[in-house]
Amino acid sequence: MSLAKIARHIKPVPPDKPEYHYAMYEKAFRDKREEFRDIFEIGIAFGGSLRLWKEYFPNADVSGMDILDRSDTVPEGMTWYQGDQSKLDDLARIMHKEYDLILDDGSHVDWHIQFSLAHLFPYVKSGGYYVIEDLDCRRGLNLDGSCIKTRHVLKYLTKGQRFESPAITESQMEYILEHTESCYTYRSVCIIRKKS
Ligand SMILES: C[S@@+](CC[C@H](N)C(=O)[O-])C[C@H]1O[C@@H](n2cnc3c(N)ncnc32)[C@H](O)[C@@H]1O
Repeated sequence: MSLAKIARHIKPVPPDKPEYHYAMYEKAFRDKREEFRDIFEIGIAFGGSLRLWKEYFPNADVSGMDILDRSDTVPEGMTWYQGDQSKLDDLARIMHKEYDLILDDGSHVDWHIQFSLAHLFPYVKSGGYYVIEDLDCRRGLNLDGSCIKTRHVLKYLTKGQRFESPAITESQMEYILEHTESCYTYRSVCIIRKKS
């Protein structure tokens, strides 16, 4: 069954993602279904996507985080953390292992997206993936209004060029550039592959 079809059948609430996301993920991860062992998603809402990943990647330990208390929506037995993706203390408390796949479907605020990328990319396994969803969804909604758009950061990353972001330190930027194998954006989704 295709990923989109599995998603449509997720109960009680299907994941909150447009159909083309599934086509992209299927193309990128079809061959990894049995291989992925650890998956983490920022943004749980009703738990639809956590359920989807568990079904699509049968050998994966799926976990997630959300700023709100999602204890009523997370599937039983699945690990989840309450925390804010823009707070270093929360990310440091939550991250304790490496992941094959980390997805950011959280606040969609540029500053938060870039801050999370900077802190979580080191937790992606070699050859693993970091996905950012819904680029531009909160256009202009940044903490101090001066953050570079994530879409621009990703353009630099695709070309392997240096960039400046108030949410990313110089050494974090160097780490990201040095360890990025590829960075592919289609519409509002970006898939970053880490070097093996
Ligand atoms: C689009 S929903 C997630 C949908 C879910 N991934 C799915 O596909 O079914 C976004 C979630 O991000 C959470 N969120 C918003 N701001 C956040 C933040 N700063 N840190 C962590 N989670 C946040 C919201 O509470 C909400 O549950």
